Amino acid sequence: MRIDILTGLPDLVRGPLEQSILRRAARNELVDIRVHDLRTYAEGKHRQIDDYPYGGGAGMVLKPEPIFRCLDALQDEPPAIDEMIYLSPDGEQFDQSMANALSLKQRLVLLAGHYKGVDQRVRDERVTREVSIGDYVLSGGELPALVVVDAVVRLIPGVLGDATSALSDAFQDGLLDAPHYTRPATYRGLTVPDVLRSGDHGRIAAWREARRLEKTRQRRPDLLHPEPVRHDMQAGSPDD
Ligand code: ADE
Repeated sequence: MRIDILTGLPDLVRGPLEQSILRRAARNELVDIRVHDLRTYAEGKHRQIDDYPYGGGAGMVLKPEPIFRCLDALQDEPPAIDEMIYLSPDGEQFDQSMANALSLKQRLVLLAGHYKGVDQRVRDERVTREVSIGDYVLSGGELPALVVVDAVVRLIPGVLGDATSALSDAFQDGLLDAPHYTRPATYRGLTVPDVLRSGDHGRIAAWREARRLEKTRQRRPDLLHPEPVRHDMQAGSPDD
């Protein structure tokens, strides 16, 4: 997979890509992540990438030209771009199923808007998907872009050491995760549940499943009762 990230703050994005799982994925050539500094595509002595909004108002808007130029250059490079994603608090809510779908693509482009946003013409002409990571406003799209990259890259086969570990994540089957423990067995008088040290894999699996259900019921009951209710109503018959 190839991922291109367009930003006015390349250093903010590059740091996290150089750590842990993302770095290993890139070094193992499982993903090719390129960070593009919009300033490189800006013109003039000051290489300005933002300007005041027409009509007035607070904040600056990212200018269209550097973004269009950068995208034109990227489009000439294979593979073909599958999704051109703009990170914005008014986008579609990012979740595990979107991460799963994006992890199957060959090429993603992520545009991190800073300041007040980006010229609407970029969104109208080039963006195929607008994505929000939650109902709160950050200073820019850089951190959201990294959230999307991390959630997607860890799903690429071979990125996580244990082939099954992404599948057992919370949310991957609609339940929250069970508690985890490691050594020592007793710390400051606090003990690890006996069942986890029993070596009985059947009992351990049952215990984990019960904890997952219990935690999901307490914290996210909405995850336990999602679509079927609507489906029954659409079917129109209470006996269905
Ligand atoms: N840019 C600023 N806030 C954001 C959010 N919550 N999601 C995506 N992009 C953003």
